[in-house]
Amino acid sequence: MTSRKNNIYNYIHSLTALAQLAFRSPRVFAKLLKNMHCSHQAYQYAKSYPYHQGDGSKPSPQNPLWDYFQKKQKGNGIWKWQHYFEIYHKHLQKFVGKKVSIMEIGVYSGGSLEMWRSYFGENCQIYGIDIEPACKNYENEYTSIFIGDQQSRSFWQDVKRQIPHVDIVIDDGGHMAEQQRITLEETLPIMNPGGVFICEDIHGDFNRFAAFAATLASELHNKSTSSPFCGEVSSFQNAIHSIHFYPYVVVMEKNLHAISEFTSHKHGEKWQPFL
Ligand SMILES: C[S@@+](CC[C@H](N)C(=O)[O-])C[C@H]1O[C@@H](n2cnc3c(N)ncnc32)[C@H](O)[C@@H]1O
Repeated sequence: MTSRKNNIYNYIHSLTALAQLAFRSPRVFAKLLKNMHCSHQAYQYAKSYPYHQGDGSKPSPQNPLWDYFQKKQKGNGIWKWQHYFEIYHKHLQKFVGKKVSIMEIGVYSGGSLEMWRSYFGENCQIYGIDIEPACKNYENEYTSIFIGDQQSRSFWQDVKRQIPHVDIVIDDGGHMAEQQRITLEETLPIMNPGGVFICEDIHGDFNRFAAFAATLASELHNKSTSSPFCGEVSSFQNAIHSIHFYPYVVVMEKNLHAISEFTSHKHGEKWQPFL
C-alpha cells in the first residue's frame, strides 16, 4: 500500500473506531474529546518553544555500548541512532553480567546482536526476529533467529511457544505503528518482572504508536479511589513500573515486584492550617 493510501485507510479506520466508541462507551469518548484540547495546547506550546544553538552531545566515552559501536569498523553491520546509546545504557546496565535473555526485532546484518552479547556477557541468551530469511545466517549456540512478520499474531503465537519468557525486548523492525503496537501487545505479557521494552524509530509528530504509548502512560496515573492516602491499582499499574519518552524511542519497564496499592504518607508534626 502507498503511504497516501495508507494514510487514508488509517483516517477511515480511526473515524470508524471513534464512531463505534461514541456509541458504545460515551464516557470514554468524552474523556478522549476533552484530552484532544490538551493535545492541541501541548502542540502549540512545543512548536513555539525557544530554540538554542548547541554543538550536540555525544554519548559518554564511559558508555560501553557507545565504545563498542565506535570501535566497530569491520564485520557484521550495526545501524543505530547515536543518541540511543545513552538510553540503552541507562535502562539496560542492570542486566550486565547477569543471566539475561534479550529479543531484538530487526536483525538486518547481525551486528547489533553481537553488540548485545558483548555488552551483557556470556550468560546472555539472544533471540533475533526478522522477516528476511537471510537473517537465519546469524544463528549460533547463543543466538536463535525466528523468521516471520512482527505484525502477524500467529507468528507471535509460534515464537512464544518456543520462548515463554524474556527480560528485554528491542523493537527495531519495520517501524510501522501497527507493527510496533502488535509487538508490544504480544511481548509485554511474556516479559519477566523488571523487564525492559524498547521501541525504536517512532518518527513524526502525532505518530500513532506514540499516541498509543501516551495513553498507556495516562493509565499509570489512573486513580480509582477518592482517598487522598491510598489508591487501588489497575492491572496495568500492577505490572508496569514506568514509561519513558525520548526522541524516536519509548521505553517501558515492568515492576520487579507486582504493586497492589499506592499509599501516601505524612511524616512530621508541624503543618500549615490551610489544608
Ligand atoms: C533497521 S533494520 C534493523 C537494524 C538492526 N537492529 C541494527 O541495529 O543494525 C530493520 C530490520 O527489520 C526487518 N523488518 C522489516 N519489517 C519487518 C517485519 N514486518 N517483521 C520483522 N522484521 C521486519 C528488516 O528486514 C530489517 O532487517
